[in-house]
Amino acid sequence: MKQVWMIATGGPENLQLREEPDPQPQAKELRIRVRASGINFADILARKGLYPDAPKLPAVVGYEVSGIVDAVGPQVETAWIGKGVFALTRFRGYADTVVVPQIQTFEKPAALSFEQAAAIPVNYLTAWQLLVVMGALKPDETVLIHNAGSGVGLAAIDIARHVGATIYGTASSGKHTFLKQRGLHEAIDYAKFDWMREVVRLTQGRGVELITDPLGGSEWKKSYRALRHTGRLGMFGASSAAESRLPGPLKLLKVGLGMPWFNPVALMNKNRSVFGVNLGHLWHETPKIEAWMKALVDGVNVGWVRPHVDRTFPLAQAGEAHAYIEARRSTGKVVLIS
Ligand SMILES: NC(=O)c1ccc[n+]([C@@H]2O[C@H](COP(=O)([O-])OP(=O)(O)OC[C@H]3O[C@@H](n4cnc5c(N)ncnc54)[C@H](OP(=O)(O)O)[C@@H]3O)[C@@H](O)[C@H]2O)c1
Repeated sequence: MKQVWMIATGGPENLQLREEPDPQPQAKELRIRVRASGINFADILARKGLYPDAPKLPAVVGYEVSGIVDAVGPQVETAWIGKGVFALTRFRGYADTVVVPQIQTFEKPAALSFEQAAAIPVNYLTAWQLLVVMGALKPDETVLIHNAGSGVGLAAIDIARHVGATIYGTASSGKHTFLKQRGLHEAIDYAKFDWMREVVRLTQGRGVELITDPLGGSEWKKSYRALRHTGRLGMFGASSAAESRLPGPLKLLKVGLGMPWFNPVALMNKNRSVFGVNLGHLWHETPKIEAWMKALVDGVNVGWVRPHVDRTFPLAQAGEAHAYIEARRSTGKVVLIS
């Protein structure tokens, strides 16, 4: 099989294609001949040495794939063989073959291409947890989605649109027209303008009920201030670390030092709540993941879950794919194809 190895931290040249022996599924596992592997921003942070949950390098990263099952281990029904599936992989997804636990594998809806199916697991489960499970978004509320043009951002727009909420989002200006076509009511160019001032203007000073914030550091302080009474702040990333010009781990230090400290009395008196989301720490909660995925697959069948693949790259060009995302050129998902 072919795998893309991340050999060391640094630039995209550290992603290298290698031939390895085919893996064999063990008990409760199945083997997928991969057609598409999703790239996540976490993979880029891992390559830059900025992702605490990354595997020790050298390693094959990759959290999600789609493809066709060609072998099963003991205690897995042989009926899986030949099925089109998509799966959460705890690493090793950048490959043309993976072995995964059956409980992390889901049948691919017929309406989706393999590329679209690879865009579902991480982006949509994260957005579902943020907006529905913990954010409890209601139709008469307003949500601000930071990084609205990212994979998670587009998934969040689909879900907020389904809920019926008013949707604001921050994104680079070149993405605004497309994001509005997808359902965003107001797009804010956070590179050129102070997004907070725009939120104050748009809400006549009231603020918004829910903010999904993967920027991290001092941005979380700002997002907290932009909440309306009864507002919730969902924190789930630190993409601002990737922008820092400081060397190596100092980038994370700056983000860490900029973080807010939340005071319970202030939370009470302001009627606000804050919560964190890390899908990578939910692997043991299989029934929850299954229930959320069922809701999302129902959404695919009804039509409100619309995974958008911006661009595909062959597996051998994983480095180019990373560079494309880092240059902020992607809108929605970038996938590797085998
Ligand atoms: N906690 C969790 O469970 C979880 C799960 C998934 C993702 N996340 C987090 O959610 C965020 C989005 O993830 P994703 O995989 O959906 O992202 P992605 O699709 O790779 O999105 C990349 C986009 O993010 C924006 N961006 C923001 N800061 C950036 C930077 N420093 N360098 C390059 N691009 C930057 C850019 O768009 P604009 O310039 O238009 O904003 C870029 O096009 C990341 O912070 C990620 O770590 C967290």
